Amino acid sequence: MLFDTHAHLNADQFEEDVADVIRRAQVEGVSNIVVVGFDEKTIKGALRLAEEYDFIYAAVGWHPVDAIDMKDEHIAWLEELASHPKVVALGEMGLDYYWDKSPKDIQKEVFRRQIQLAKKVKLPIIIHNRDAHEDIVKILKEENASEVGGIMHCFAGSYEIAKQCIDMNFYISFGGPVTFKNAKRPKEVVKNLPLDRLLIETDCPYLAPHPYRGKRNEPSYVKLVAETIAEIKEMTYEEVVEITNQNAKKLFAIK
Ligand code: NI
Repeated sequence: MLFDTHAHLNADQFEEDVADVIRRAQVEGVSNIVVVGFDEKTIKGALRLAEEYDFIYAAVGWHPVDAIDMKDEHIAWLEELASHPKVVALGEMGLDYYWDKSPKDIQKEVFRRQIQLAKKVKLPIIIHNRDAHEDIVKILKEENASEVGGIMHCFAGSYEIAKQCIDMNFYISFGGPVTFKNAKRPKEVVKNLPLDRLLIETDCPYLAPHPYRGKRNEPSYVKLVAETIAEIKEMTYEEVVEITNQNAKKLFAIK
């Protein structure tokens, strides 16, 4: 009953063997996967997989790194896709101050437009945040994103930031990095986080958990994230799996 809330099975790295990867995930007990699209190609890939597999859903959005490439017609397209029965969220969207392909002001504008769209179509949002904690929180507040809520994906911030996001109706999702030996901060955040706000993900093919660090990640490894969280929270693995599964289903409105 594992729920991988953020996977890029639509990435080139899975082109050769996506069916095997999905089968392996099922064998390991992964019952739901949200495949996230963030540009034209990956959005189409996410929809293809969601249409092919019952237990795969799609999120569609525009990545901040590529904000500079987003045109008005893309926003119209996202609005159209929002009514697709397998589209459960908008995103990933957000701010990325690590890469400098798109200027900050354009990233902010594209982020705001997608939040506004999410409120219009009433879908939760998936947030990508790299080195931009303060501006993310500021924009979520100013745009009243709490109306739709969503996920802080692969969260790497402090507990204070996490708390501000929870107060705005967001869930906090953890992936491979929480399993790394030197991951002091994410472990500390997990420890303090209320259970009803916790989610798990892989962000595959990136950020594979220990002991696969540096290798290609895949949804079956989300089990390792759940195991680490169970250790930190001093709960059973089954409890973590059950609670994170329920949280994800509630957020994405999946029966
Ligand atoms: Ni991602």
